[in-house]
Amino acid sequence: MKIISAEFVKSAFKREHWTTDSLPEIAFLGRSNVGKSSLINSLLQRKGLARTSNTPGRTQSINFFLINESFYFADLPGYGYAKVSKQTRADWGVMAEEYLANRNELTLSIQLIDARHNPTALDLQLNEWLNFYRKNHIIVATKADKLSSNKLKKSLFEIEKMLPESKILAYSSTTGKGKEQIWTEIGNALNNFHRNS
Ligand code: GTP
Ligand code: MG
Repeated sequence: MKIISAEFVKSAFKREHWTTDSLPEIAFLGRSNVGKSSLINSLLQRKGLARTSNTPGRTQSINFFLINESFYFADLPGYGYAKVSKQTRADWGVMAEEYLANRNELTLSIQLIDARHNPTALDLQLNEWLNFYRKNHIIVATKADKLSSNKLKKSLFEIEKMLPESKILAYSSTTGKGKEQIWTEIGNALNNFHRNS
């Protein structure tokens, strides 16, 4: 896909603040620090567009980015950061479920997991929700550059066993590995959205 324009639109702390122009939307979900913002920047080739940080658990809002004036990327807050309060953790669940259950424009959810590890309990829970709400989704196993190709293969095999209902793609935002495949998935999801609406 050729990126003609990509702009940050808003941060939404509640449902009333979600965008309302009915454009198709791609959501990025995953635990804190897994690389959601890095993936967005790398897909869009805009370095500082989605803020990346070494301070996990900071983003508490859904950040909306408008691409080519025709679809949105939604960067969701990360989950699973140990140092946040119980309340913040509970709020994450409410927010995520509200979003997944109600966001009609959502045409593809991209769930990021760390290629180096087995999915966490919260990764499994999110994946269950995606399946439960019948959300079109893919798993992106990121930070693939941190593994040798042999170890990556093994790890992907383990992840596939644990998430048998999901399509899994390996990715690295430092090398760009897997980027074309992710764009293909996004392109297909956008076509589906237009076919069905
Ligand atoms: P929150 O917004 O806190 O939920 O985090 P996030 O999921 O948006 O993660 P972010 O993109 O901020 O990345 C966290 C850290 O991981 C940063 O230091 C990134 O540079 C690093 N990182 C992200 N993706 C990759 C990758 O593919 N390879 C490597 N080596 N590092 C990565
Ligand atoms: Mg982020």
